[in-house]
Amino acid sequence: MVQFRCHGCGAVVDAAAVRPFRCPNAGATVDDIDHVLVAEAFAAEWPAGSETNPFLRYRALLTAYRVARSVGLSDDAWGDIVGELDEALVGVDGRGFRITPMGEQAALAQALDLSGRLWIKDETGNVSGSHKGRHLAGVMLYLRVLEAAGLPAGIGLRRNRLAIASCGNAALAAAVVARAADWPLDVFIPPDANPAVRARLAELGAGITICERRAKEAGDPCVLRFREAVAGGAIPFSVQGPDNGLAVEGLRTLAFEMADGFAEAGLVPDALFVQAGGGALASGLVQGFDLARRLGRLPRVPKLMVVQAQGCAPLVRAWERLPGLDLADAARRRSRFMWPWEKVPASIAGGILDDEAYDWWAVALGMRASGGGAVVVSEEVLARAHDEARRHTGISVSATGSAGLAGAIGYPADGGVIAAVFSGVER
Ligand SMILES: Cc1ncc(COP(=O)(O)O)c(C=O)c1O
Repeated sequence: MVQFRCHGCGAVVDAAAVRPFRCPNAGATVDDIDHVLVAEAFAAEWPAGSETNPFLRYRALLTAYRVARSVGLSDDAWGDIVGELDEALVGVDGRGFRITPMGEQAALAQALDLSGRLWIKDETGNVSGSHKGRHLAGVMLYLRVLEAAGLPAGIGLRRNRLAIASCGNAALAAAVVARAADWPLDVFIPPDANPAVRARLAELGAGITICERRAKEAGDPCVLRFREAVAGGAIPFSVQGPDNGLAVEGLRTLAFEMADGFAEAGLVPDALFVQAGGGALASGLVQGFDLARRLGRLPRVPKLMVVQAQGCAPLVRAWERLPGLDLADAARRRSRFMWPWEKVPASIAGGILDDEAYDWWAVALGMRASGGGAVVVSEEVLARAHDEARRHTGISVSATGSAGLAGAIGYPADGGVIAAVFSGVER
């Protein structure tokens, strides 16, 4: 059985029978539990294949594949499902999922006066120009498996529209993947969303709802409107763990690729700097690196260093309230650690301005287990990292995309290796 367990209340879900999106106990009663469904550990070998599509190479570690096999679909049938989506992605976006580049960036390390060697994983050329498509491909492949296998959890599925809340990159990725799968999508975006992004969303056929902040309403209005749509029957095509446990899992492929790259280079970075908004990027990396360690691909995991902007740092605020506390206990008292940022979030790194870090708990677990921590960076430091990154790597990364690197400036690396992800392209 392919099981998910809620890290807050312990509820268990069989992913072949019930969609492992939101925990079944979330919202059922008024509680203060951090409900997020997480794929349960299972016995596996580290995938040793050489496929260039991560959803093929790492298929044995993916829920969608495991569900497919457990209900009788063949390995070839999985190949067809992935291949079909990939071909359609090429038609819609000019590219499918491929292992993205990673390498040492010595000139950039020098320009930023880093005291260690710097490795950068470059997601700017990934589907739709960011890492976000990984979250959504994980969800879409699962939906396709439910359909292909004729499982009860898939009956009537196509009648439901997909829905996502986002300020840009996630909505774009969702629109590309949804279009490739020929599935209607509604996106909930803020009024100040990049006009170019908005135009592309319309071109891709997404239904667009502009979400204004409402007086006396706490939290991100896009998320609030999205949750209303889901309550009305929409499928949470989300990049946040609490809304869809599968979303975080798809992102693990990024960590798998990095783990393979580091293993081939014979190194483990001392620290991995990760920009966090909602926190699913960091959460997926934590889970993926942990799996790589458990399956013997890496001897240890890097310290997880989470980076947020001064203008919006709810995850750092939560982290600072956690020392000495039992994390399992903290998961049952969510509101003491996580609540919406009181001021209207602002930064040049606009992609990490989530009012709440929805995946805070799993990220805190990763920070604690790895001996990492959290960094708040100023606008000046974000701008410096962004300028030098583009100048010295030739990668057209956005300020959000280089925000993790900003956190590495001044870190005492003592000659060790530090790593960061350039998570999105400049638009
Ligand atoms: C390019 C880019 N990097 C990083 C992030 C942060 O990801 P998360 O919200 O999962 O923390 C985002 C989120 O929108 C993004 O667009």
